[in-house]
Amino acid sequence: MEETKKVMLSGIQPSGQLHIGNYLGPLIHWPEMIEEFDCYFFLADLHTLTVRQEPAELRKRVLTLLANYIACGLDPEKCTLFIQSHVPAHSQLAWVLNCYTMFGELSRMTQFKDKSAKHADNINAGLFTYPVLMASDILLYQPDYVPVGEDQRQHVEICRDIANRFNGVYGDVFKVPEPYIAKVGARIMSLNAPESKMSKSSPEGCVFLLDRPEDILRKFKRAITDSDTERCVRYDPEHKPGVANLMQIYGSAAGKTYAEIEREFDGQGYGAFKAAVGEAVVEKLRPIREETERLLADKAYLESVYRAGAEKASYIAGKTLRKVYKKVGLLAK
Ligand code: TYM
Repeated sequence: MEETKKVMLSGIQPSGQLHIGNYLGPLIHWPEMIEEFDCYFFLADLHTLTVRQEPAELRKRVLTLLANYIACGLDPEKCTLFIQSHVPAHSQLAWVLNCYTMFGELSRMTQFKDKSAKHADNINAGLFTYPVLMASDILLYQPDYVPVGEDQRQHVEICRDIANRFNGVYGDVFKVPEPYIAKVGARIMSLNAPESKMSKSSPEGCVFLLDRPEDILRKFKRAITDSDTERCVRYDPEHKPGVANLMQIYGSAAGKTYAEIEREFDGQGYGAFKAAVGEAVVEKLRPIREETERLLADKAYLESVYRAGAEKASYIAGKTLRKVYKKVGLLAK
């Protein structure tokens, strides 16, 4: 008998362009996973509504992100690629799970605290209940693992708490998933402020997947290293956070260990090192950029991918949702 594969699921918000934090953190590992696991990768478009979006821009970004997924190696024949809003079960399960999630635990979410500080004029209920929608995204597919960057660990933890609470009342309805966080690349920091994580809200310190090579090289040239008198390339995140971050990026992009990088730049200054990191990133991203452009010119193909994905995802999600509705006592139609 064929052994059933373990299930893996993750998503990214089309809230801006993909950056190398998204890519070198989780996404770079996803293509290897599709060989071993039954994988679901989706575009978390509903999540972006917690912040005001320009509608035409959002539609464009969804297609670009889908093209990015495929260009990064997610073969739609081998995994399920879909758009969250195309599978209504996500919002439907979220309502049920809202009733099994406590106000206090949502108040403790660091992302809620950060985002409400940043968008003080729009602290909407969606921003607050965001982790419940994320838990629904996950639990509908009964995954074993959820591959994310370090900043999403707390959201996967609350998803586990919600699943355990629900299972405690109704029996084993949900599989309780594990976060799957890579050792290298789990937290790529900003190039010009290495104490904060790389994010699109600080574009100069952020390298986007579709940036032009000259812009990428310029951003790395200006990257902060450190003011240490010992100007050598050594992995020491505490005393040399800028250098450690660049080593993390170089290690992921060029497939090298920290020891190899230290040997390679032994006796050289930071200038040569930063240029090499920039070049490695340009080379890693070049085929992705070219393939994304090619795919974006073929809208019919992209549409066929997301339609097929929605159908496959809806089938699995529908099964879990029906089970949940039945358990909580909703009358089947
Ligand atoms: P999002 O869209 O902010 O980020 C997508 C993925 O990229 C990771 N990431 C990083 N990794 C390393 N260094 C960084 N600087 C960096 N910045 C972002 C994130 O950890 C994430 O893995 N809530 C999620 C989307 C989501 C989701 C889900 C994920 C919605 N539902 C269900 C998994 C399962 C988010 O906003 O990720």
